[in-house]
Amino acid sequence: MGVLLGYRLFQLLMLPLVGAAASAAAAPPGCRRRCGEIDVPYPFGIGPNCSREGFSLDCNTTDDGLEKLFLSVVEITDISLPLGQARMLNEISWQCYNVSSKSLESSLWSLNFVGTPYRFSDDLNKFTVIGCDTLAYIGDFERADSYQSGCVSTCHNEVSLVNSSSCSGIGCCQTSIPKDLTYYEVWFDSDFNSSSIWNFSDCSYAVLLEANRFEFLTSYITTTQFWFNNNGKAPLVVDWAIGNETCEVAQRNITSYACISEHSECLNSSNGPGYLCNCSSGYHGNPYVAHGCQDIDECSDKDRYPCHGTCKNLPGSYNCFCPPGTHGDAFNGTCTQQQKLQSSAKVAVLAMA
Ligand SMILES: *[C@@H]1O[C@H](CO)[C@@H](O)[C@H](O)[C@H]1NC(C)=O
Ligand SMILES: *[C@@H]1O[C@H](CO)[C@@H](O)[C@H](O)[C@H]1NC(C)=O
Ligand SMILES: *[C@@H]1O[C@H](CO)[C@@H](O)[C@H](O)[C@H]1NC(C)=O
Ligand SMILES: *[C@@H]1O[C@H](CO)[C@@H](O)[C@H](O)[C@H]1NC(C)=O
Ligand SMILES: *[C@@H]1O[C@H](CO)[C@@H](O)[C@H](O)[C@H]1NC(C)=O
Ligand SMILES: *[C@@H]1O[C@H](CO)[C@@H](O)[C@H](O)[C@H]1NC(C)=O
Ligand SMILES: *[C@@H]1O[C@H](CO)[C@@H](O)[C@H](O)[C@H]1NC(C)=O
Ligand SMILES: *[C@@H]1O[C@H](CO)[C@@H](O)[C@H](O)[C@H]1NC(C)=O
Ligand SMILES: *[C@@H]1O[C@H](CO)[C@@H](O)[C@H](O)[C@H]1NC(C)=O
Ligand SMILES: *[C@@H]1O[C@H](CO)[C@@H](O)[C@H](O)[C@H]1NC(C)=O
Ligand SMILES: *[C@@H]1O[C@H](CO)[C@@H](O)[C@H](O)[C@H]1NC(C)=O
Repeated sequence: MGVLLGYRLFQLLMLPLVGAAASAAAAPPGCRRRCGEIDVPYPFGIGPNCSREGFSLDCNTTDDGLEKLFLSVVEITDISLPLGQARMLNEISWQCYNVSSKSLESSLWSLNFVGTPYRFSDDLNKFTVIGCDTLAYIGDFERADSYQSGCVSTCHNEVSLVNSSSCSGIGCCQTSIPKDLTYYEVWFDSDFNSSSIWNFSDCSYAVLLEANRFEFLTSYITTTQFWFNNNGKAPLVVDWAIGNETCEVAQRNITSYACISEHSECLNSSNGPGYLCNCSSGYHGNPYVAHGCQDIDECSDKDRYPCHGTCKNLPGSYNCFCPPGTHGDAFNGTCTQQQKLQSSAKVAVLAMA
């Protein structure tokens, strides 16, 4: 219902603009929008000319025969348009003490999103360090203010681990990251090197990961389970945004402005420069394509949009009426009999009979 009304209004008011936007900003036709199990909505896209600039991804078939989505070498497992987020698999850095050679071996990882739409979510990720004699650092020296932080984790023996079920400094340490972080590298302090505790723990790990998908297990100290759980990777959430301008500045250039659907709105990014588009309240879909935001039919989803009466969908909202002969609030099921009207109706019936 709302779709038709909104659509007609849009055509009348904005037709010339749609034409102009289509050449530069509309979703190109004939592009694949799925890779394996993952939806790839515009502004993202697979291959040349299928995405907004900076949002191009690869869909490659890996050794196990499955299609997987990649940003450069980093696998993407989820993209959310309404949240302006994507989930990736981030490489775990490690350092191990080799008893026979009495030397340290390590694999250190860095991730560079400078100049791309992506930045690490400061709300959802924590720099996480696992080990019994470990100091690991996280740093961004590409930043003007040169960020550096670290996390230390110690435990004297296996017994001290027994009651350590959360990541609280004994065998595991977590620290927050700042907003607008687009680069990170990891390194270990070589003075903390497991050489004194190697007989129960010879490896340490450090990775930026999604904190609420992580649970510390004490077996991570004494085994290589943490690394092998997910093939040396851990989930990471990135925020993304369009451009580097605020909504107000971006709206001035109608050929590059991304929120082209009617019933969409613009939001400044809450993590760094740039903006996001979202469908207005009562609409859902893709605000980055023409006619992408569609009216939600609230009446067909009673769980989310309660109605204890007669439901009527409206553009961007819905109404809910009490059944005939009752009054009150049908949204929360408090319709009651209309006593007075009913008795006068009875009188009328009697009088007629
Ligand atoms: C992408 O678009 C450019 C410019 O419109 C064109 O020259 C090029 O051939 C296109 N590439 C593909 C693979 O379609
Ligand atoms: C995916 O395929 C593209 C195009 O063939 C290639 O450039 C890229 O390196 C591949 N990425 C991965 C992670 O294999
Ligand atoms: C976009 O709208 C949806 C539904 O109204 C809401 O849940 C979501 O938080 C909004 N996104 C942002 C970034 O505010
Ligand atoms: C430890 O070092 C020795 C001698 O350099 C080497 O042969 C061995 O592969 C190393 N062990 C591990 C687990 O890397
Ligand atoms: C673990 O907790 C139990 C019960 O709270 C306590 O009796 C025990 O001493 C603790 N062990 C260690 C090693 O802290
Ligand atoms: C391990 O750390 C100790 C100091 O805690 C240091 O003396 C030793 O040289 C380090 N070993 C390696 C292999 O770096
Ligand atoms: C590790 O070595 C220490 C002494 O160096 C000893 O007390 C402890 O029992 C050993 N632990 C294991 C699991 O072998
Ligand atoms: C914003 O983006 C434009 C175009 O990508 C670029 O030329 C400009 O340098 C950027 N400005 C800042 C402050 O990063
Ligand atoms: C508007 O955006 C288009 C496409 O990005 C760009 O070519 C053009 O120069 C911009 N116009 C102004 C006035 O900034
Ligand atoms: C975006 O940020 C600018 C500058 O901080 C502010 O003036 C503007 O009101 C914000 N716009 C929205 C839609 O939040
Ligand atoms: C139902 O909604 C009405 C009006 O919004 C309100 O006054 C009433 O308290 C609500 N009743 C319940 C049971 O929530």
